[in-house]
Amino acid sequence: MKHALKLGVVGSLGRMGTRVCALAREDSRFQLAAQIARDNFARAPWSNLNVLIDFSTPESSLTALRKAVTSKIAVVIGVTGFSNSQMSQIKAASRKIPIFLSPNFSPGIFWMKRLAKEAAKALPAYDLSILETHHKAKKDAPSGTGKALASVLGRKVEILSSRIGDVVGEHTLVLAGPFERLKITHLAHSRDVFAKGALEAAAWVHSRNPGLYGMEDLFSQNAKG
Ligand SMILES: NC(=O)c1ccc[n+]([C@@H]2O[C@H](COP(=O)([O-])OP(=O)(O)OC[C@H]3O[C@@H](n4cnc5c(N)ncnc54)[C@H](OP(=O)(O)O)[C@@H]3O)[C@@H](O)[C@H]2O)c1
Repeated sequence: MKHALKLGVVGSLGRMGTRVCALAREDSRFQLAAQIARDNFARAPWSNLNVLIDFSTPESSLTALRKAVTSKIAVVIGVTGFSNSQMSQIKAASRKIPIFLSPNFSPGIFWMKRLAKEAAKALPAYDLSILETHHKAKKDAPSGTGKALASVLGRKVEILSSRIGDVVGEHTLVLAGPFERLKITHLAHSRDVFAKGALEAAAWVHSRNPGLYGMEDLFSQNAKG
């Protein structure tokens, strides 16, 4: 059997980080080598890791990325809410190390984006609207997934955000025309769908060449077998 990948998780005490650590412990492809929280960030064993999964904040994500570039380790970034200048820093780092970036690691959202693109193209005269609902503690609005969904539609679309209760994540695209509406909805029942997806991304990206990768790369690779 191949050696388990030494995995570091940034934001390990957060809602997502906790689930990534829990699933990594049950996954023989990984050895959970570093659980990186705010108070042990400075003494994390960066150079001892093969791959990093980051579910922290945009600011700490960029600090962790600089450590990863120095230590030449692959990074999976699940954080959302990056500014344009922060995105430029991620792109620059991807010239040196492999980076897998996705605002949503769920297979369902990947396919929702494909269906949404097809539907928007097929119904060019219909009005479009995206509704997204998340828990009250979510920091960014609109959600990264809502923005990613909007970006594939090829025309302007409003995104309506609501932050209520403990909703894990709900996204609906509405296409409204004369006499009818089409709704495409995705409901995340558990954060484990994102945590599992991030682990798949880590297993996939750790041995790639430097570059910026996403769910399209993971799914097209899997489709080829
Ligand atoms: N890509 C996806 O599929 C997906 C799915 C769900 C969520 N997300 C995104 O993932 C991010 C995290 O979400 P969440 O719900 O897990 O948030 P969360 O519960 O607030 O977790 C974030 C964690 O990062 C920690 N942190 C902050 N600064 C740090 C630092 N310098 N070093 C280490 N840890 C640090 C926080 O610690 P403190 O509490 O001490 O600040 C907290 O434990 C958000 O951007 C969210 O939008 C993405």
